[in-house]
Amino acid sequence: MLILGIESTCDETGFALVRDGKEILANCIASQIDRHAKHGGVIPELASRLHVDACLPLLQKALNEAGCTLSDVDLISVAKGPGLIGALLVGVNFAKGLSLALNKPLIGVNHVEAHLYAPLMEQSVPLPALGIVLSGGHTLLALIEEIGSYRVIGQTQDDALGEAFDKVGSLLGLDYPGGPAIERLAVHGDAFRFPLKAGQIKQRPYDFSFSGLKTGVLYLVKGQNGNKEDLSVLPSLALQDVAASFQQAAFEDVIQKALLAAREFGCRSLIFGGGVCQNQTLRRLFEKLSPLPLFWPPAGLCLDNAAMIAGLGYAIYAKTKRDCGLDLDVQPRISL
Ligand code: KG4
Ligand code: ZN
Repeated sequence: MLILGIESTCDETGFALVRDGKEILANCIASQIDRHAKHGGVIPELASRLHVDACLPLLQKALNEAGCTLSDVDLISVAKGPGLIGALLVGVNFAKGLSLALNKPLIGVNHVEAHLYAPLMEQSVPLPALGIVLSGGHTLLALIEEIGSYRVIGQTQDDALGEAFDKVGSLLGLDYPGGPAIERLAVHGDAFRFPLKAGQIKQRPYDFSFSGLKTGVLYLVKGQNGNKEDLSVLPSLALQDVAASFQQAAFEDVIQKALLAAREFGCRSLIFGGGVCQNQTLRRLFEKLSPLPLFWPPAGLCLDNAAMIAGLGYAIYAKTKRDCGLDLDVQPRISL
């Protein structure tokens, strides 16, 4: 079965062709990052318009790379949410049009669930597992008893982890997105120079809060009670220590909560998804500290992409045979 996956939840347009939910024939992504970078974050209206421009050329590119035509496609899978409403409408309506024209079934999938499905595309994983999503829009821990059955046991109360990286990156004068830039800057930094800490939520041991950590960085860089517009008061050498200390504090918090949750809920493995999982320091720290096997997304499947959308769509369709058809609608705030 050949599945066409379509992703347009935020600032990446993705088209992928995946055979039987596992074999990736093409995974094409058009990133809008350069167009949003000068604004320091994603502008929703601009994102929608850029998705419109990208859809047709990217579909053609994916078909060329996979060496197939539209008539070879057996199933269309599209991310229906969560995400930006305008951006989602572009992908979902494009998918509906294709489904109608080709007379092929259409399935709408949850983008966050797809992030957790990415590591499962190439390997099978001992269950129950703890799913850990660390992306620009989401940060959560979920108990996975079986694929398709999730219980969210903790999530961020303010910023997502990737969002905190992006905001701290901007405080440090780094390019958007801040995640990869902070990782690079932190390589030569002293991760224990500044005593930063992520937030703890009363009686919710698995929830996250990164806003205080962000303010901690603001005060380090701009001085106590400094504000974002002040010119940096730290020399550049210290900035790498700030980047490393921020990264260390954020990751220590995620790892400590994840391992505690895994123990409490009797998990047999940890499954990761989302853009922050590209970070090599995060991977090394988890590898050092976790007694359980770790399942990371394969190369190219951490950041937003359509291969994971196709993979999950196949898994759900194989189980339910349900065709959402033209009733499919976007669900911008859907939870896992
Ligand atoms: O999963 P993703 O593409 O988007 C969402 O679904 O939200 O993740 C993008 C996020 C951005 O916030 C970016 O800064 C972060 O992932 N990111 C990283 C790294 N690469 C991307 N964060 C930390 N270290 C990285 N190497
Ligand atoms: Zn995502």
